[in-house]
Amino acid sequence: MSARAAAAPSAEASVAPDLFAKFDPLIAQRQALLDTGVKDPFSLVMEKVLSPTRAICNGKETILLGTYNYMGMTFDPEVIAAGKRALDEFGSGTTGSRVLNGTYQGHKACEAALRDFYAMDHAMVFSTGYQANLGVISTIAGKGDYIVLDIDSHASIYDGCAMGNAEIVPFRHNDVTALEKRLARIPAEAGKLVVLEGVYSMLGDIAPLKEMIAVSKAARAMVLVDEAHSMGFIGPNGRGVAEAQGVLDQVDFVIGTFSKSVGTVGGFCVSNHPKFEIMRLVCRPYVFTASLPPSVVATAATSIRKLMHGSNKRAHLWENSKRLHGGLTQMGFTLGTAEPQSAIVAVIMPDLERGAAMWEALLHEGLYVNLARPPATPAGMTLLRCSLCAEHSSEEVETILGMFERAGKATGII
Ligand SMILES: Cc1ncc(COP(=O)(O)O)c(C=O)c1O
Repeated sequence: MSARAAAAPSAEASVAPDLFAKFDPLIAQRQALLDTGVKDPFSLVMEKVLSPTRAICNGKETILLGTYNYMGMTFDPEVIAAGKRALDEFGSGTTGSRVLNGTYQGHKACEAALRDFYAMDHAMVFSTGYQANLGVISTIAGKGDYIVLDIDSHASIYDGCAMGNAEIVPFRHNDVTALEKRLARIPAEAGKLVVLEGVYSMLGDIAPLKEMIAVSKAARAMVLVDEAHSMGFIGPNGRGVAEAQGVLDQVDFVIGTFSKSVGTVGGFCVSNHPKFEIMRLVCRPYVFTASLPPSVVATAATSIRKLMHGSNKRAHLWENSKRLHGGLTQMGFTLGTAEPQSAIVAVIMPDLERGAAMWEALLHEGLYVNLARPPATPAGMTLLRCSLCAEHSSEEVETILGMFERAGKATGII
C-alpha cells in the first residue's frame, strides 16, 4: 500500500456533515402529507390570471380567495397604463441602490404619494415590506435599547429584531396589561420601541392600538405599527387601524407594503420624526440593495393615489367580509375571530391532514384559499385563510359559501 493511499480518509469520514439534516423532520412531515394522496398545497401554479379574483389553476377557472389583493388594484387600467409608460420611458430596472444610481423621479413621486396618503412629513420606499421592517427596526433600536413586541408578530419583525442589537421583550398577543407590565420592568432611562401590527394576518384580528399606544406613551416608548393588512381598507381614509382608532398622530413609524392593497411589490415607512431622513444613509436594507424598477414605483404611486378615493370599495369589502364571516359561522365552521374584524376570515381546521383535504376539496370546487400551518400560525393551528377582495361581487361571495358548504360536508369538517 502506498503512503498516499494509507493517508486517504475512509469513504465514510470524507462525507461532509449534511447541513440539510436539520430539515429531515419537515421533509418527512411533507412526504407523509403527500402520501395521503392530497395535492401539494404549497406548490399551486396559476397558469393564467384573469382578474383580481379569477385565475386558471390546473386548467380550471378558479375564484381567488387567498390573495392579499384586498382592493383589487392589480388590473386597474390606470395602474397598468402607468407601469407600461414607465417601462417605455425609464427601462426595466435601475440596477442600483437608492443612494447611488437607483433614485429616479418615479421613486420620489411614489414617496410623495405616500406622504399625501398618510398626511405625514416623511416617506421612505424599500424594495419589500420585509426589508422595511428589517431595516427600520434593526436601525432605530440599537445596543442598550429595548424592543417590546407582540408574540404573534410577523417574521419580518422578528428578523428585524434579530438583525439589530437591542434587547427583545415579547408580550402575550394583544394583551394590553402584559405590554404594560413588560414596559414597567425596563429601565426608565432606556430607549424603548414598541412594535405592533394593525391587523394580525393569520387570524385576521385587529390590535387594541388605542390602549396599547396609551400605555406605551406613558412608559415613554416610541411606537411602530405595521399596517400591512389594513392599508387601503381600514380607517376612513384607508390609513389603517391606527386611523380607525383615532391614534395615528401618536404613532412614530408606520410600516407598510405595496404587495397587498396597493397591488404590486415594495415596502415603506412613513413618519413625522424630524430626523427621519437620516435613515437613508444608515439603514442597511435600504442602502445595500437595488431599488424598485420604475414600472413598479409608477404602478404603486398611481394605485396609492387612487386608494385615497376608495371609500365605495372599502364599504363593499366590509360587506363581503361580514357576509362571508356570518355565512361560515352559520354553517358551523370555527373561525379565528367571533366578529369580522378585517378582510381576512380564518377558518380553523382540526389538524393539518384534514385541513389539506378541505383545501383540496375547495380547489376541486374551483376556489383557492391559503392553507396556513405552524410556524406561521399561532398556537400550532392549521388554518384555511380567506382574504376577501373589493372586486368580489356579492354573488361571488354566495358562490363561495356554497363551495365551503359542499367541501365541508364532503370532508366531514361540518
Ligand atoms: C404584517 C406583515 N408585515 C410585513 C410583510 C412583508 O411584506 P412584503 O410582502 O412586502 O415583503 C408581510 C407580508 O406578508 C406582513 O404580513
